[in-house]
Amino acid sequence: MRVELPEPGPYERAHSERVAALIRAEIAAAGGALDFERYMELALYAPGLGYYSAGAAKFGAPGDFVTAPELGNVFARCMARALAPVLRETRGDILELGPGSGALAAELLLELERLDALPGGYRLLERSADLRERQRATLQARAAHLAHRCVWLDAPPAQAWRGALVANEVIDALPVRLFCLRDDGVHSRAVAQDGDRFVWREVAADAAFAMAVERVLGVQRSALPTPYRSEICTLLTPWLATVTDTLQSGIALFVDYGHARADYYAAGRREGTLRCHYRHRAHDDPLWLPGVQDITAWVDFDALREAGIAAGFALDAFSTQAQFLIAHGMQEVFASAYAQADDETARYRLAQEVKRLSLPGQMGDAFHVMCLRKM
Ligand SMILES: C[S@@+](CC[C@H](N)C(=O)[O-])C[C@H]1O[C@@H](n2cnc3c(N)ncnc32)[C@H](O)[C@@H]1O
Repeated sequence: MRVELPEPGPYERAHSERVAALIRAEIAAAGGALDFERYMELALYAPGLGYYSAGAAKFGAPGDFVTAPELGNVFARCMARALAPVLRETRGDILELGPGSGALAAELLLELERLDALPGGYRLLERSADLRERQRATLQARAAHLAHRCVWLDAPPAQAWRGALVANEVIDALPVRLFCLRDDGVHSRAVAQDGDRFVWREVAADAAFAMAVERVLGVQRSALPTPYRSEICTLLTPWLATVTDTLQSGIALFVDYGHARADYYAAGRREGTLRCHYRHRAHDDPLWLPGVQDITAWVDFDALREAGIAAGFALDAFSTQAQFLIAHGMQEVFASAYAQADDETARYRLAQEVKRLSLPGQMGDAFHVMCLRKM
């Protein structure tokens, strides 16, 4: 699919060239083809250079995409209602992974204060110095009296803790491995160079990756056309084990776009789910300007459930985002915010926010929420 993209400025081109030089060096060191997972890791997270490690705007209107906490506070207020019981029960903390602009942290704390269920501490796991500054500024601007509860971490907590882990649109940013099913078996997709351009290169999958693909596809495999391209997040299980290792009791709540496996690997989705975002345009070419655009893949929620069980959790709940928000007070939150809105513009914005969060065809059914529980 060809999408017209806004022309990047000279700064963005120069930045991408530095990221590309790093990737070219790794392609050469790897013998001419670099597995896509490593390409995605470098494009998004290379220290000081990757999309999430360098200083681009990313979230919200001036950035590349809008996430649910950026639309207003309805999403956070409903999530607070889902977290309040476990925070009261465990008298625990919140750990937020990949806190973005800090909007979710600020609005969760404000609503939990109203619900009399504030966490002891609010930890933000964020490696980017630039994003930490942005999160601090948001917390000061919106919830200054609660900001002292916030602590920034470089790595998951080393000490045992209780409470709730939350991650909105984080799993979709984990690097994935790409595969292509052909009549002669499973191939893995790598990135090579043709002059200055990055190009795709298919290589026969090693035995472990081919087995991982066959296991995930299971009985669906025989119904899939060839060629069939898709992806697997092989990092998910070790990543989840690492980030939740010291959580003794409580919940882990994940919100992301994606599906249960049967839908994820449907015959009709033969080009997979990898998407790129650049200035509010979505397209499917991750080899275009690495370092200045977001690259994401949908989440296979059965893989998340399996990873959770392997990490000692039980599945607590799984629903669409619309069902989750409605079950946690969206109508009540909407009614009270509507009654307090200053003017027609604020009421219109609120109505638009709720529609975007909950309608089918928007975030309502493309996004799912999975809650895992550890006793
Ligand atoms: C699409 S953004 C979402 C930001 C924010 N949660 C929101 O909803 O606006 C993805 C975030 O996940 C973070 N992330 C990616 N891998 C991570 C990891 N291994 N641990 C913690 N955060 C991670 C990225 O740095 C980025 O901030």
